[in-house]
Amino acid sequence: MTALVLGAAAGGGFPQWNCACRLCCLARAGDARVRPATQAGMAVTANGRNWVLIGASPDLRQQLTATPSLAPRGDGRDTPITAVLLISADIDGIAGLLTLRESQAFDIYAPPAILEVLGSNRVFDVLDPSLVRRIPLPPHTSVACAGITMTVLPMPGKVPLYLEDRQASQPEPGPTYAVRLDAAGRRIVVAPACAEITGPVRAALRDTDALFFDGTLFTDDEMISAGVGVKTGQRMGHVCIDGEAGSLSRLRDLPGRRIFYHINNTNPILLADSPERRMAEAAGFEIAYDGMQVQI
Ligand code: MLT
Ligand code: MN
Ligand code: ZN
Repeated sequence: MTALVLGAAAGGGFPQWNCACRLCCLARAGDARVRPATQAGMAVTANGRNWVLIGASPDLRQQLTATPSLAPRGDGRDTPITAVLLISADIDGIAGLLTLRESQAFDIYAPPAILEVLGSNRVFDVLDPSLVRRIPLPPHTSVACAGITMTVLPMPGKVPLYLEDRQASQPEPGPTYAVRLDAAGRRIVVAPACAEITGPVRAALRDTDALFFDGTLFTDDEMISAGVGVKTGQRMGHVCIDGEAGSLSRLRDLPGRRIFYHINNTNPILLADSPERRMAEAAGFEIAYDGMQVQI
């Protein structure tokens, strides 16, 4: 199985259009210690011909244009993208569907709660229902697609930002998801959003050959101390990397490749020579980047 990171950044991308934090400024200045990144998305294939997209970020058009293996192969209209699996109804998880209009057949797989979001917004009807099937994939059920068995795993999380009660101090719990991908005895798990690494979460993440995990923030109050926001990671539904309950300590003993993915532009692991980057790498974690290819 091959997983291709189309975009490694969290919502907003790196640099983010309106952000003048230290890292965004470095990225804008072309500093060699940081790599600009587009908003999170992956493509996976078990046979090198048919691909499944995991998530559809607003940067999808740019990501597809930059990826020769996802270009049309034949004459006329064509795509090697067989399906799109949605695991988040956040803007950075679905807005790229609008890029996939133009009368092209493919399937959308998503948990029913995400299909409800698509169904409640007619702009997504631009994807002609006679060509683009919407197939419900409830949590814990599996489906085979392009030689890959896909299973949606619920994760502790919150409702999408635009459905939140903005006055609430605590996030409204709501479904967010990871996906387990199995092919030829190999397993990849993609979990871009996880609010807490509970026992069941650890159990779901065990036994993977490659785990792409929520790398949004290094410390919970990082956006506040960078002066670019008022929300903690907890408020945003993302467990941070650092600390006793953080992903570095809670996931460091898992076997297989562990890769931080969906990385916010304030996260110092984006800086090649930062102590935080060294800490993550010393604990055996890799840092995803646009174009990263993971073959297992
Ligand atoms: C998140 O991951 O917290 C969301 O994607 C935030 C957003 O909607 O930008
Ligand atoms: Mn996000
Ligand atoms: Zn920034």
